[in-house]
Amino acid sequence: MSGLPNRLVVLHGANLNMLGERALEHYGSITLRALEELVCEETRRQGWRCLCLHTNHEGSYIELLHNHRHEGALIVNPGAWTHYSYAIRDALEIVTCPVAEVHLSDITTREEWRRHSVISAVVTFTISGKGPDGYVEAVRRLVDSVKAERVLKERAAGREV
Ligand code: DQA
Repeated sequence: MSGLPNRLVVLHGANLNMLGERALEHYGSITLRALEELVCEETRRQGWRCLCLHTNHEGSYIELLHNHRHEGALIVNPGAWTHYSYAIRDALEIVTCPVAEVHLSDITTREEWRRHSVISAVVTFTISGKGPDGYVEAVRRLVDSVKAERVLKERAAGREV
């Protein structure tokens, strides 16, 4: 599967399909479907297309990262794999587009094992603890950064933008 330049792909991992009935004190009452709709609405507002995918299987998540490595941009929330999956970290290193790591809850103030992300060092930026707003912020920052980079490339090539 080849990537599309003006498409944002959102990859949700383990247990995120249970949003809405899972640890409401940390994740709020939003369902995965509602969260995906919110992200897609903001992405369309920015003039881009949006694709949201979810899996509870680590190997499938890695394959999704491979398949979508050349998209316009990615938002990843791998759930608990964030804290220990070096395989997902390795897959993220192959991705060629900007990647936002987003967590609904503030992982830095929760249990000890949850405070460290093994993927933070290989993503473009991380947003944690802002709930669904964190996703909206990630969409804006990603699209803005891609647009800014394109303007710079055009200017460097001597073309007016
Ligand atoms: C999460 C935080 C992780 O620690 C947890 O395992 C999740 C959700 C978040 O969005 O806050 O499944 O990534």
